[in-house]
Amino acid sequence: MIEFDNVSKLYAGDACALRNISLTIPDGELIFLAGPSGAGKSTLLKMIAGIEKPTTGRVMVNGQDVSKLQTSSLPYLRRKLGLILQDQKLLNDRSILSNVMLPLIVTGAAAQEAESRARVALEKVGMLDKANALPLTLSGGEQQRVAIARAIVNRPKIILADEPTAFLDRENANKVLSALKAFQSAGVTCLISSHDEQFLDQASRVIYLSKGQITDSWNSSIAA
Ligand SMILES: Nc1ncnc2c1ncn2[C@@H]1O[C@H](COP(=O)(O)OP(=O)(O)OP(=O)(O)O)[C@@H](O)[C@H]1O
Ligand SMILES: [Mg+2]
Repeated sequence: MIEFDNVSKLYAGDACALRNISLTIPDGELIFLAGPSGAGKSTLLKMIAGIEKPTTGRVMVNGQDVSKLQTSSLPYLRRKLGLILQDQKLLNDRSILSNVMLPLIVTGAAAQEAESRARVALEKVGMLDKANALPLTLSGGEQQRVAIARAIVNRPKIILADEPTAFLDRENANKVLSALKAFQSAGVTCLISSHDEQFLDQASRVIYLSKGQITDSWNSSIAA
């Protein structure tokens, strides 16, 4: 469960990115975070991963106060999260397979174990046939699906995806979204920020942010 308790975020220069956000996200939901540019979507996602800290208020992830975590404890939190952030590109000097193995290798997994789990993750997003390709030879949609594979290779219970369908055509965006929805069906909580209104009806819940505040929030009648 993810909980925001009266969270505000002021960046240096007094930009108020989030204002008094209170929010509870139960396990296993697929939630869309909608709202215009500058609304605070990325800031909200980064707080769950402890990348940004609240100026006031509290962010709890599975009962743990993220804002109180020591820097040294953050890697343990992040291992439970699948992060698909806008500024985390694939490494272009190595294969798709090696990119997806990396999160396991850096946490000490044996190469053989890492490779077999990376192959399973690539399979889940329909990218196993490109395992040996280099990132720059893939389309944007394919690269985004590899980024999802890399995010889920640690078997996280929560996936945070910041604009995963930005710059993709509808067909590729649908594939990316289907991959994320498959994880939700397997019990993973998915929190996805998007400008893309066409996908909102596929969420179990949509939260609208505007100027750092929740302006609207609704639950879909579609079974999650
Ligand atoms: N590191 C930072 N330093 C100062 N201000 C920031 C920083 N990051 C974001 N902001 C400001 O906080 C507000 C919210 O930004 P945020 O990136 O969370 O919005 P967003 O909804 O993700 O926008 P977009 O749809 O363009 O990605 C904006 O006014 C932005 O200028
Ligand atoms: Mg953003």
